[in-house]
Amino acid sequence: MEPLHPATLAAQALGWVDESTKALIPPVHVATTFIRDPDNQYRTGFSYGRPTNPTFVQPEALLTKLEGGAACLTFASGMAAATAVFLALRPGDHVVAPQVMYWGLRNWLRNFGTERGLVVDFVDAGATDALAAAVQPGRTKLIWIESPTNPTWAITDIAAAAEIAHGAGARLAVDSTVATPVLTRPVELGADIVMHSATKYLNGHSDVVAGALVAARHDELWERIVAIRSGNGAILGSFEAWLLLRGMRTLHLRVERCCRTAQAIAERLVGHPGIVAVLYPGLPDHPGHAVAARQMRGGFGGMLSIRVAGGERAAIAAAARVAVWKRATSLGGVESLIEHRASIEGPGSPAPPDLLRLSVGIEDAGDLIGDLEQALAGAG
Ligand SMILES: Cc1ncc(COP(=O)(O)O)c(C=O)c1O
Repeated sequence: MEPLHPATLAAQALGWVDESTKALIPPVHVATTFIRDPDNQYRTGFSYGRPTNPTFVQPEALLTKLEGGAACLTFASGMAAATAVFLALRPGDHVVAPQVMYWGLRNWLRNFGTERGLVVDFVDAGATDALAAAVQPGRTKLIWIESPTNPTWAITDIAAAAEIAHGAGARLAVDSTVATPVLTRPVELGADIVMHSATKYLNGHSDVVAGALVAARHDELWERIVAIRSGNGAILGSFEAWLLLRGMRTLHLRVERCCRTAQAIAERLVGHPGIVAVLYPGLPDHPGHAVAARQMRGGFGGMLSIRVAGGERAAIAAAARVAVWKRATSLGGVESLIEHRASIEGPGSPAPPDLLRLSVGIEDAGDLIGDLEQALAGAG
């Protein structure tokens, strides 16, 4: 038989069936401790609830498969996953990261990362030349990128970034939260580590905070990351791991719908008198469109931003007028969210003050467009 399509693997959670009960849905394992064999071994691989837990097995196996990687670890949050990669580096290691990236991680790198001795250069990661100029062969240990990047949805050429990293003896890690494995598989493009805030599309229902890392291979860096999760203890709860698997079963349906609606919204809003720019990689005049068309399959994601005519006050006022969209942070849930991004990122944010970030959910596209149009009617 042909290899099964990822949508089939996700819907069936890799076809897992409980051997003892024939249940199609795995249980939530709440045990924090496990019986040792009489000869003093732990043959099941489970000993205590912090290193790992049986409820992690299925979501980690499914994400490994969807990303085409060798191994996966779930974490207590996307930040716990991302920071585990940086904690696995050593003081003095040089890191290249994007100027525009998830703000929480940018702040962590600037504060805790630097305090721990990492030397971080922030560059325009949408420009391959800037990445190439920033790496220091032998000293750079990691290039970190995010594509599309939050909240301007700039695109980084993942294959080119991998070549630059490997040419300098560094690894490439990709925050693929927004692309999801439905649209992009960074490992196939040369990435060494893929990171997800599983709080977003993977879970998809705004009811779990979770993170994940996928490794292209088992190597020394991965072993350090495994030890860091176990030692630092930033693990997912059993119930959250179970909910995450349940959410991932509908990942393909949700992402396909979000992409279709986001594309329709972006196309409808181009040229709107209340908007000065629509930022969406699915638009042909987006600077990253050609690369996105190459490395994203089946859509350009469910995230877009609009820059509102009349500046910050007009943007905040437009967000105040929505009725269907929900004014809230986060992204990747089934409900559509709108957010004035500079307000949450605070001083020093590279988010333009007139920018509203839109996370497109799975509601009726006409309802979403109609609500945005009435909210924008007074702008400009
Ligand atoms: C692109 C991206 N990466 C990482 C994170 C951090 O994930 P978490 O909130 O699950 O810790 C977020 C959260 O908004 C995000 O949007």
